[in-house]
Amino acid sequence: MDVTQALPLLGGISPQVFMKRYWQKKPLLVRQAVPGFKPLLDRAQLFDLAANEDAQTRMVIQVPGSQPGWRFKHGPFQRRALPPLKQPGWTILVQGVDLHHDRVHDLMNQFRFVPDARLDDLMISFATDGGGVGPHYDSYDVFLLQAQGQRRWRIGRQKDLNLQPDVPLKILANFEPEAEYVLEPGDLLYLPPRYAHDGIAVGECMTYSVGFRIPNRAELARELLQRLAEEAEDEVGVSLYRDPDQPAVDQPAEIPPRMLEFAQNALQDALQDSRALARGLGEYLTEPKPNVWFEARSVPASDGQTLKTCGIQLDRRTRMMFDVHHVFINGESFSASGRDATLMRALANDRVLSGRDVAKLSTQALELLTSWCAAGWLEAKA
Ligand code: SIN
Ligand code: CO
Repeated sequence: MDVTQALPLLGGISPQVFMKRYWQKKPLLVRQAVPGFKPLLDRAQLFDLAANEDAQTRMVIQVPGSQPGWRFKHGPFQRRALPPLKQPGWTILVQGVDLHHDRVHDLMNQFRFVPDARLDDLMISFATDGGGVGPHYDSYDVFLLQAQGQRRWRIGRQKDLNLQPDVPLKILANFEPEAEYVLEPGDLLYLPPRYAHDGIAVGECMTYSVGFRIPNRAELARELLQRLAEEAEDEVGVSLYRDPDQPAVDQPAEIPPRMLEFAQNALQDALQDSRALARGLGEYLTEPKPNVWFEARSVPASDGQTLKTCGIQLDRRTRMMFDVHHVFINGESFSASGRDATLMRALANDRVLSGRDVAKLSTQALELLTSWCAAGWLEAKA
């Protein structure tokens, strides 16, 4: 993608300008970001997905005149478990629809001017008149694309982040909207993290949300330390604490300072290996979503040849990224350099590689591709 090129999706500004002026800073409303946009799944298809074990679905029902006024349930939901369509004020939200539908995945890919390491998923919500999840804020950035019907968004910077007590959802206690927009199909609203918003369906409505991953320090540190520890063990074997000069103690409960030093050194050594840290990060970021299972397929010996003839495309659920020294795919890392690295990076960026380019790979790299094909991570282009 040429990030300096103006995009209708961003209201005629370039991704470069968007990232500089709006990303994580302020909202952007784009009327007709996707002109003539029609839902990529109809209501029945969305309800089918809501019944699927592999999709994460939530339902929020407003109960007028009752306390706490909101009911919240986790799916899956069979069609008969959904309230009637003529009942106002309910919504279902289906997470990760990009993992299930190619066209939804393609739509999400239009937002790949943001690194894949940040892109999370595309959620689709369906609501009957008046439905919504209440005024709230999210900890991540979001693009809200109106897909069907209208939704009235009220948004605000909101200083007071107190939540309503005793409700099963995070709902702001004192929402103070500063702006209001009614979105029509094809309109897009970008909101930075912690920007308060409340979207209320005007008639039956479907909204697509492209959401982002925000790694959290504690979680990242835990993941990386665990991976570093595993790698350190693999590489140097288990090295054991030794204390031949430990004197006899009269305070046996005291931890020997030397033990702390040993622990500190172990951590420092692990952290000093910057390649191992980079590997851990790439493996973590490309780990498939918990509900993703790839079906392995048997690949005939000639498959390398097929891949060279047809070219390849990544499965929509495959996560592939790279850094200076490695290529990462679905939680695994590979060292790459030279022409192989250039071609593998092109595959990660474009998610396809032509047969001509596949033919330029080394035998080893082609063998890797064949094994990824056998694992169901990619396939020969149709
Ligand atoms: C929606 O109801 O589609 C959007 C939920 C949200 O505001 O995050
Ligand atoms: Co939200």
